[in-house]
Amino acid sequence: MKGMAYAKVNLALAVYPAAADGFHPLRGIFQSVSLSDTISIEPASVDEVVVSNDEAPSDETNLAWRAFDSTRRAARMPAAARLAIDKQIPAGSGLGGGSADAACVIGLMSDRYGLDEEMAFDIAASVGSDVPFSLTGGTAIVEGRGDRVDAQPLLSGFALCVVVPPFALGTPAVFDEWDRLDGPTGRVVPDGDLPPILRGGVPIRNDLYPAALSLDRRVGDWCDALEHLWGTSVSMTGSGSALFAFFESVDEAAGAADAVDLPVRAAEPVSLVGQGWEPIDE
Ligand code: C5P
Repeated sequence: MKGMAYAKVNLALAVYPAAADGFHPLRGIFQSVSLSDTISIEPASVDEVVVSNDEAPSDETNLAWRAFDSTRRAARMPAAARLAIDKQIPAGSGLGGGSADAACVIGLMSDRYGLDEEMAFDIAASVGSDVPFSLTGGTAIVEGRGDRVDAQPLLSGFALCVVVPPFALGTPAVFDEWDRLDGPTGRVVPDGDLPPILRGGVPIRNDLYPAALSLDRRVGDWCDALEHLWGTSVSMTGSGSALFAFFESVDEAAGAADAVDLPVRAAEPVSLVGQGWEPIDE
C-alpha cells in the first residue's frame, strides 16, 4: 500500500483556556496544502519503520507507526510490516507532517481492511489532535481539541508561500507558554492582505503566535524579515515555526519563495488541496 500525506496550514487558529483533560479547546480554519510525504506499507518478517531523513523517529514512537499499530489491532490483522516514510514535510513546524503521515496510514489500512469511517476517525483522534483533520483534509472548521472536523467547500483563488525557519518549536511547550501568558490572542491579518474569499469573515489570527514569540524571539525576527521582503502580512501555522503569507497564484508564491535569501529549512509555494491523504496506484 502506498499513499501521499498532505501537510496542513492553520489559516486561522483561536485558542481557549485548557479543559479538564489539559487540552485547549480551539477553533480554526484548517487547510490541506500541496506539500506532502509519501508513505508505503509492505508485508515484512519483522516490524520496521524507515524514515528518509531525521525529521521523524525511526521507531515505535513515530506517530504513523502508532497509527499503523492501532489500525492493525482494530482490523484484527496482526501481520508484521515495514512502514517507509519519504519525508518532505519539516517536523516541529506546525505543518502537521506527523499527523498527516498517521492519517494516511489509517486511511490506507481502513480502505484495505474495510474499517468503517467512525472507527477510523476514533483511531485518528486517539493518535493525536491534528490526525482527525488530516484524515478528512481539504478545508475544514476544526473545533474541540481537534476532534470536531466540519468539512467546508474547498477554498480557492489563492496560494500560499510557506517558509520554515531553521529551528523547530515543540507544541506542548508553546501551549504551556500560552497558559503562562494568560491566554493571549494573535494579531489579526488586515483584510487588504487577505484573499477575497477570506475577507470579512472570522478574524484571521493565530493565538499561539504570541506564545511562540515569547518562547523564541527568532519567530518575530523571521516574521518581520519576511513582511519586509514581501510587503504583506505574515502568519504562523499551528504552534510554529513555519510562517506563511497569501498570494494570488502559485506563480506569485513561487516568486516569493525564490526571493527568500535566508538559511531556511524550506521555502515552498503551495497550492490548496482537497484531501488530507490519497492512495497511490502501484
Ligand atoms: O494531541 P497532540 O499529541 O498532537 O498534542 C500535543 C500537545 O499539544 C498536547 O500534549 C498538549 O500539550 C498540546 N495541545 C493542547 N490542546 C490542543 C492540542 C494540543 O494543549 N487542542
